[in-house]
Formats: sequence, C-alpha cells, structure tokens
Amino acid sequence: MRPVPNLLKPVEKGYVPLGLLISGRGSNLQAVIEAIAAGKVRARAAVVISNRADAQGLGRAERAGIETLVLPHREAPSRDAYDARLVHELKSRGVELVCLAGFMRLLGPTFCDAFPNAIVNVHPSLLPAFPGVDAQQQALTAGATVSGATVHFVTPELDAGPIILQAAVPVHRTDTVATLSARILAEEHRILPEAIQLIAEGRCQVVGDRVVIAPPASDAARRA
Ligand code: GRF
Repeated sequence: MRPVPNLLKPVEKGYVPLGLLISGRGSNLQAVIEAIAAGKVRARAAVVISNRADAQGLGRAERAGIETLVLPHREAPSRDAYDARLVHELKSRGVELVCLAGFMRLLGPTFCDAFPNAIVNVHPSLLPAFPGVDAQQQALTAGATVSGATVHFVTPELDAGPIILQAAVPVHRTDTVATLSARILAEEHRILPEAIQLIAEGRCQVVGDRVVIAPPASDAARRA
C-alpha cells in the first residue's frame, strides 16, 4: 500500500500551494485559474512553468498575475537533471500539489518521488484506454463509441497512476479528431478543478492502486 502523504489531510483555513506545468495552449490552466478565482477551488497558484517559451498558456498565467517560468528541457543535460530542476523551482516556492495541465514531458522517479501522490494529470481518454499521445485519434481508430477525460495521480509509468475522476462522452460516427477533442476538452475543464478541490478538501486517499474519495465533510457530520 502506498503511504498517504500529509497533503491529503484537509487543508483547514489555508489554500493548497499549487504549481502548474504546461507546454502549450493552456486551456486547462485557464479552467483552474477561473475555478480558483470563483472560489470553487481552495488552491493558490504559486507558479506556472512551461518547457516551451512559446506556450500560449504563459500569457494566460501572466494576465492572471501568476509568476511564470520557462525551463526548456533541451537545455538540461539529462531527463533526471531536468526533473531535479523542476523539483527545485517548485519546492523553493512552497508548492505542495503539482498539476500537469497539458505538460508534454514524461516525468521520472526523481520528480514523482519528490511529490508522492501529489501530482495530478489530465488526459483526453478514459484511462487505461488510449494512453500516450493522440488519444482522440486512438479512440477514433479503434471505433470506440465512448471516450472521455481522466484526472489521475502521476506515477513514473505513462498515464497509469491512480484515477481520481473520469467523465465519459459519446464518440459519434461523424467525429473528427477536432470535434471529439472539443467534446472531451469541455469535460477536462470541469473535472480537473474538481479533482484539485477534492485533494484540497483532503478527500482523496490512495489505497493500493486506487483512489478512494471520502464523502463531503457535511455528509460525514450528518451521519455522526
Ligand atoms: C489536453 O487535451 C490534455 O488532456 C492533454 O493535452 C491537452 C492540453 O490542452 N494532456 P491545454 O493546453 O490545456 O489547452
């Protein structure tokens, strides 16, 4: 059984210090920023880090007044060195929960061990189906009639960590990658902030390879 880190205890008055990693458009980042601003997520965006200087999401973060940092992975001597640098930048800003919001780099044990059960990723399929790149194309190629979005804890195995939330969408016969991606993306934007809030409320426990979600505190109090 994996140890459950302190982070998964409820955050009482404070806000979870969140680090967000991006590589591109940043629409999931935007969804998290808006959910925080609307008071739906008790987190504080401490920093947004991109491995690409041209990531559109950097502008979104700047407009929201969040510190941004560009760390090009090509400049690091090794994957491990890159991961260690990321860990350093996040930890030095007090980050306790990391959100991969369209971050297109594999993170190895150096990174994952630094944030046990405290890294979340959003993926455009119902994992474990269609991991890796081009998940929407994979669903179309397989003739799947249902696909969706998954938010999961990150482990060094690609798209294989414990699942926190999923949302299903239909796949239509007439779908293209663009139309299916848009339908899935709307669900990503909903479940990513929701998963972060569940973690902030201390309601996600990793038990074995699964996530167990506790009922809201109000329900627990009613039952007591
Ligand atoms: C999303 O579909 C996400 O699931 C995948 O990459 C895409 C990123 O989109 N990992 P955005 O940068 O959040 O707009």
